[in-house]
Amino acid sequence: MSVLVTGAAGFIGFHTSLRLLARGETVIGVDSLNAYYDPALKRARLAQLLDRPGFVFHQADIADRAAMAEVAKAHPDITGYINLAAQAGVRHSLKAPHDYTHSNIEGHLVMLELARANDKCRHFVYASSSSVYGANTKLPFSVEDRVDHPISLYAATKRAGELMSHCYSHLYRIPTTGLRFFTVYGPWGRPDMAAYLFAKAILEGRPITVFNHGDMRRDFTFVDDIVAGVVGVLDNPMADDSGAPPARVYNIGNHRSEKLMDFIGLVEQSLGIKAQYQFEPMQPGDVKETYADISAIQRDVGFAPTTPISVGVPKFIEWFKQYHRV
Ligand SMILES: NC(=O)c1ccc[n+]([C@@H]2O[C@H](COP(=O)([O-])OP(=O)(O)OC[C@H]3O[C@@H](n4cnc5c(N)ncnc54)[C@H](O)[C@@H]3O)[C@@H](O)[C@H]2O)c1
Repeated sequence: MSVLVTGAAGFIGFHTSLRLLARGETVIGVDSLNAYYDPALKRARLAQLLDRPGFVFHQADIADRAAMAEVAKAHPDITGYINLAAQAGVRHSLKAPHDYTHSNIEGHLVMLELARANDKCRHFVYASSSSVYGANTKLPFSVEDRVDHPISLYAATKRAGELMSHCYSHLYRIPTTGLRFFTVYGPWGRPDMAAYLFAKAILEGRPITVFNHGDMRRDFTFVDDIVAGVVGVLDNPMADDSGAPPARVYNIGNHRSEKLMDFIGLVEQSLGIKAQYQFEPMQPGDVKETYADISAIQRDVGFAPTTPISVGVPKFIEWFKQYHRV
């Protein structure tokens, strides 16, 4: 099977590509290697992938129709799509809104069009986000809940991706599955996310910024568990036999809502250094608590996360120290 993975040099795309290559798939990786965060980290991930047989890379912007048509032409055997390329980050969407519509809406549409033009497409899997739940207060968040009150443009673009995918499943009978990821962390993680920001500040002797005065909870999900879910989902496209569009959306989280201060405690413990805290109010666009109801993905593809933060955080810190040679 040939799988087109977009955002392959990104955090989740890199781990997903590694897993697919390990089981003998051909992976066509696409990434623009943009400078939202240090492209050196993206290149370092990419170097690992390029070392492995079965991996082909195209540096391209998924919103560039002509470039993506070239990628499709070069690889007529693609049967699966995993669209992970996106402008991520809730807070940045207040500063650079157009980057979000460009990659997450226009780019997502270009990817759906590629799948539509491909008779061999078995499944189109894509990243959504827990942020689509907005300010919902009913916990855990369930895929049955209403998600039409986004509180950041990032969330709005991710929800738009779900709606566009549903439309393509309806019109063209393409099986699509959206994955609402819940705060993913682990080795090779993103520099704009909590685990990385905390580790870096603590090691540099700077205070860590803790929003909502530390009164936050997150369903932190270790990247290996996420990848098991992504690949399990890819292998199980929804059957198109009920008359309804073959479109699904799943939560993919750890199903444990952890106190932010407990997560920070594990970072401190793994580094052996006590942090200095700088407490700040809640950030616009942010939510106080996330907690995933994962019963649907458990039932349909046997998803079963196994990594508590007490195991995952030390693994992240071990990678962080090795990567930064500290
Ligand atoms: N990490 C999380 O906790 C989390 C949570 C919810 C949703 N998500 C979603 O999961 C997906 C992967 O996230 P990640 O954490 O790996 O982020 P990431 O930023 O590390 O990876 C995204 C990759 O996509 C690339 N990219 C961005 N725009 C592109 C474009 N227009 N064309 C081609 N490449 C482009 C970037 O260069 C980057 O390498 C994203 O869709 C993100 O919104 C992630």
